[in-house]
Amino acid sequence: MSIIILGIESSCDDTSAAVIRDGVLLSNVIASQEVHAEFGGVVPELASRAHQQNIVPVVDTALKRAGVRKDELTAIGFTRGPGLLGSLLVGTSFAKGMSLGLRIPIVDVNHLHGHVLSHFIRREENDPVPEYPYICLLVSGGNSQIILVRNYNDMEILGQTIDDAAGEAFDKCAKVMGLPYPGGPHIDRLAAEGDATRFKFARPHIPGLDYSFSGLKTSFLYTLRDELKKDPDFISKNQADLAASLQKTIIDILMDKLDKAVKQTGVKTVAIGGGVSANSGVRDAVAGYCSRRGLTAFIPPRVFTTDNAAMVAIAAYYKYLDRDFCRYDAVPYARVQV
Ligand code: KG4
Repeated sequence: MSIIILGIESSCDDTSAAVIRDGVLLSNVIASQEVHAEFGGVVPELASRAHQQNIVPVVDTALKRAGVRKDELTAIGFTRGPGLLGSLLVGTSFAKGMSLGLRIPIVDVNHLHGHVLSHFIRREENDPVPEYPYICLLVSGGNSQIILVRNYNDMEILGQTIDDAAGEAFDKCAKVMGLPYPGGPHIDRLAAEGDATRFKFARPHIPGLDYSFSGLKTSFLYTLRDELKKDPDFISKNQADLAASLQKTIIDILMDKLDKAVKQTGVKTVAIGGGVSANSGVRDAVAGYCSRRGLTAFIPPRVFTTDNAAMVAIAAYYKYLDRDFCRYDAVPYARVQV
């Protein structure tokens, strides 16, 4: 009999539901919340309310698009954390209620595992998936980690940022340039037209596989402050070169440590995940690095880089196969490591 999983994601500002049958994706619906744009960042209270509004229609649409009836579902997977507590409560409570109504199990998913396992989302039966072990560079707005993935439930953080996440580095520098939130995609777009060698920003010297973005952020800020004193139009005149130079520095910091991790572990497969893995420069850098070294690269389709329920459904699918279900007294967690 087929195993049909409904996945629910509500950890931050995207309400998403997805349906997979035997590991193959049937639907993935995402309602993004525009309400935060004018505040320059996600407002937790507004996010929870928007999830409440969105969750029923999003789940309903995901089931309809998948051509699956509620009573055909085998289990419900939901993001238990990390994330915003109010947002997580909406998805968690919804999953519990629906599972009780349908008398099917619930499976809790660590959001970060979802990103790491997003490469196992198959749209066709024969789509390739990574072989264990592989290294995943997980780069999002809240996390920046190099993870050794030995199995779906056996992951080890080899290195991570000691301050800002990669996405924060993009967003905070973009904010200094006067770009809207989130700034990452704007930097990406501008960088395509710019000269990445034009400006030099600080690079950290952190031992081991950890890295840091705070020095870069400060040096970016000081460069702009000094140049604006000489020319008030400095930013607008140099937008593309600033974006390209910033993006290159962030990528160089990430790639330096990724290379060390690959050499240290001897893995043959490298994957990326999280919102920043949508970045064109990051994607090209990882693909180029892997092809030069004869490694297999897994670069996710852009729709699976940011928050989505397909990754929650696939992570829940593997836990379901292990009968690793969740109890009804489980509460969401705001923070957790891989
Ligand atoms: O994974 P995600 O959707 O949310 C978290 O769980 O954190 O990641 C959001 C982050 C934001 O910082 C956003 O600026 C960044 O991903 N991002 C990008 C790009 N698209 C999204 N950063 C650089 N280039 C992009 N194209």
